[in-house]
Amino acid sequence: DKGPYPYYMLKEIDEQPNVMRKLAALYTQESGKPNIDTNLINALSEADRIYIVGAGTSYHAGLVGKKLFEKLAHVPTEVHIASEFAYDDPLLSEKPFFIFLSQSGETADSREVLVNVNANDYKSLTITNVENSTLFREATYTMLLHAGPEISVASTKAYTAQIAVEAILAKALGEAKEQTIAEDFDIRQQLGLVATGMQAIIDEKDMIEGLAKKYFVPAPRAFYIGRGIDQTVSLESALKLKEISYVQAEGFASGELKHGTIALIEEGTPVIGIITQRKTANLTRSNLQETMSRGASTFTIVRRELALDGDTIVIPDVDEMITPLLSVVPAQLIAYFTSLNKGLDVDRPRNLAKSVTVE
Ligand code: M6R
Repeated sequence: DKGPYPYYMLKEIDEQPNVMRKLAALYTQESGKPNIDTNLINALSEADRIYIVGAGTSYHAGLVGKKLFEKLAHVPTEVHIASEFAYDDPLLSEKPFFIFLSQSGETADSREVLVNVNANDYKSLTITNVENSTLFREATYTMLLHAGPEISVASTKAYTAQIAVEAILAKALGEAKEQTIAEDFDIRQQLGLVATGMQAIIDEKDMIEGLAKKYFVPAPRAFYIGRGIDQTVSLESALKLKEISYVQAEGFASGELKHGTIALIEEGTPVIGIITQRKTANLTRSNLQETMSRGASTFTIVRRELALDGDTIVIPDVDEMITPLLSVVPAQLIAYFTSLNKGLDVDRPRNLAKSVTVE
């Protein structure tokens, strides 16, 4: 039931702060220590490499997961698009561990990989929102997203829930491997900050709708740019805009624009820079400037510590490792309001199904 909401997507965006609180309560203890199946952590600890597999938004959540597992647990991690990995001849490490990310647990491309994984007796974990789904049943271990049903075709709360679960898991694995950075990372407290921060962004809806109406509704194309973890969010942000607003959008590594793609910038092309990392903030700002001098209408989604006068959307401070949990929210809202103001069916965009059960 949508309750007072015109579309499920807006309801699901609004539910994100509560999902964060719920995951913190379920998967961490009051002391801040993760509360995760020890058999799973032991199996993961034996792996020399983690392979994350997913499609669409779940793949994008995997890209964030790679950074978390490598930083907090020091385990090399690869992320693969399920439909590609299934028919590649991957050269695997000696002790691989597979993590399947899937909101529905029914994505055929991911299942095809899992069938091969099981045929080779490798260990796996499915992180899904749907208990007893196919990927849930067929993996060695499972963790639930506890996000509640996600009805809108555009995935929102499943993405942030997947990242939160990956962060808790990466901390647990890092602690098992006695990594100081993992021991010092207070994920429980961080998820509390994330919940409050998400709410603060959601409270800025009207401002974001104004931007969507003025700049994104008339735009045939748009760009999200960023570096590192911000680049992964740019991919997810662009996917949202494409699938429900039918704006041809690209997520791009900001430093790579000048190597060709900047040719597409015209007068008024919206370019949004995502800036949450100290190390690369100035670089992305100058890449954004390069597009502005070629006529782009530029916007920023900036973490407060790095904000300057004139920044468009300032998001609250959280640990740099988990900024996607906040930086994606304005992008979800931009896509929602662009679609809404174009008079499109936000929840049921053309040509798409909620879960893709054919390869
Ligand atoms: O159910 P899954 O997470 O496995 O679905 C994967 C993709 O089909 C899904 O994320 C899709 O890209 C969404 N429509 C994106 O909003």
